[in-house]
Amino acid sequence: MERPDPHEAGPPRPWVLLSCAASLDGFIDDATDRRLILSHAADLDRVDAERAASDAILVGAGTVRADNPRLLVRAEERRAVRVAAGRPADPIRVVLTTGGQLDPAARIFTEGERSPLVYCPAAHAAATAARLGSAATVIAAGEPRAVLDDLARRGVRRLMVEGGGTIHGAFLAADLVDELHLVVAPFLLGTAGAARFPRPAVFPQGPDRPMRLAEARPMGDHVLLRYLLTGSDRRE
Ligand SMILES: NC(=O)c1ccc[n+]([C@@H]2O[C@H](COP(=O)([O-])OP(=O)(O)OC[C@H]3O[C@@H](n4cnc5c(N)ncnc54)[C@H](OP(=O)(O)O)[C@@H]3O)[C@@H](O)[C@H]2O)c1
Repeated sequence: MERPDPHEAGPPRPWVLLSCAASLDGFIDDATDRRLILSHAADLDRVDAERAASDAILVGAGTVRADNPRLLVRAEERRAVRVAAGRPADPIRVVLTTGGQLDPAARIFTEGERSPLVYCPAAHAAATAARLGSAATVIAAGEPRAVLDDLARRGVRRLMVEGGGTIHGAFLAADLVDELHLVVAPFLLGTAGAARFPRPAVFPQGPDRPMRLAEARPMGDHVLLRYLLTGSDRRE
């Protein structure tokens, strides 16, 4: 278990890209156990390119438990380009948990060349480290801002936050998002109680401080909305 020094002056915090696909009525999953794909092959390839352009990819423990993702770069040519540039084939994979209920047999811990970083509040960090063993490096830091500071010290300049709705909400509410990519799927899910983008919170990006639309890109019947969050409190 590692414990970052909160007083150590570090490099600028990473550029944070928040990526999400939602139904037209704002749901990011349905209520079934199967994994719901809200976009299509061309968009999944675009997301793969964004992963390959990132130094780290972050998800919440809820997404690890629900989707069991690997969070690796899929396209061999993108992996080769990263390696040729002296970078690891895959970005650093990052999981945020509060209680530490993560299964070391989950794919994110068993696949990939480098084990993930798991951030956890100090109170649960030792137990989480014991549970995960060599499958992950557990770091005692709970809040998104502290996580970003620690990632910056590890050389992360561009972080892709892939979800789920709770983590999206936590980063937006803390005003730590620089860019938002939202893919809107052309259907309604209407599932009461299912995960939404984002979970309700007090957001600084309200009507008094709207986001700037940088691009609206049709992709068949889906659309990618790319927003820049000019008010985010970057340290640079
Ligand atoms: N459509 C998309 O683009 C997309 C992308 C990703 C995921 N998803 C979907 O999203 C759903 C999962 O979303 P979710 O909201 O249930 O879970 P989540 O956002 O993936 O993870 C939430 C968990 O993160 C941990 N956490 C750590 N720090 C936190 C903080 N500061 N604030 C809040 N939580 C913190 C907690 O873990 P502990 O519970 O371990 O304490 C919390 O329960 C799944 O259905 C998945 O399929 C959709």
